[in-house]
Amino acid sequence: MSASHPVVAVYPGSFDPITRGHEDIVRRALHVADRLIVAVAHTATQSKSGLFSVDERLDLLREVFAGEDNVEACAFEGLLVEFARTRGVRFVIRGLRAVSDFEYELQMTQMNRELWPDMETIFLAPEVDYSFLSSSLVREVARLGGDIGRFVSPVVAERVRAKLKGE
Ligand code: PNS
Repeated sequence: MSASHPVVAVYPGSFDPITRGHEDIVRRALHVADRLIVAVAHTATQSKSGLFSVDERLDLLREVFAGEDNVEACAFEGLLVEFARTRGVRFVIRGLRAVSDFEYELQMTQMNRELWPDMETIFLAPEVDYSFLSSSLVREVARLGGDIGRFVSPVVAERVRAKLKGE
C-alpha cells in the first residue's frame, strides 16, 4: 500500500442480503487494500432463489457502508474478470468460512485464472462467530419467521421484514 499506488480490490458476490459475515470480510479486506469495490453480480455461478433485486442489494450495501469512503458498492454484469479488468483491479477478495467452501472457491479461482492470469484471489477467514452464516440461511430463517437480528445490520433486518411482508 502507498499513497501514490493505492491497492484496490474487488469483493464480488450475490449479497442477497449482506450479512455481518460479509461486513466482517469487508473490514478485514481493508487491512490489505486501500480501497474496496463491493460488487454485486447480476449472474451468480450457483443458482439461488433470491429475495432482493440487484438494485435493492446495492442500496443496502450503500447504507451499511455509508460513511466508509474507501468502500464503493456497484453492480456488474457478465464475467467478474471482465469487470475487474475494465476497472483496472487485479485483486479479488473472497471469504472462506469452512472447508466446505473450499472446493467451489478454488474452482472459481482457477477458472478466473484461466480467463485472466493477472488476477489474484485473496481468501479471508471471517470471525469464527460468523463461520456458519450465509445469505441463503438468513433468507430462510427470515421467511420461516425466525429472528435475523444477530446476523445482519439493523437496516438490513428491517428491509428484509418489509420485503417479506410484501411478498
Ligand atoms: O456470493 P456468491 O454468490 O458465492 O458469489 C459468486 C460470484 C458472484 C462471485 C460468482 O458467481 C461470479 O463471479 N459471478 C460472475 C460471473 C462469472 O464471472 N462467472 C465465472 C466465475 S468462475
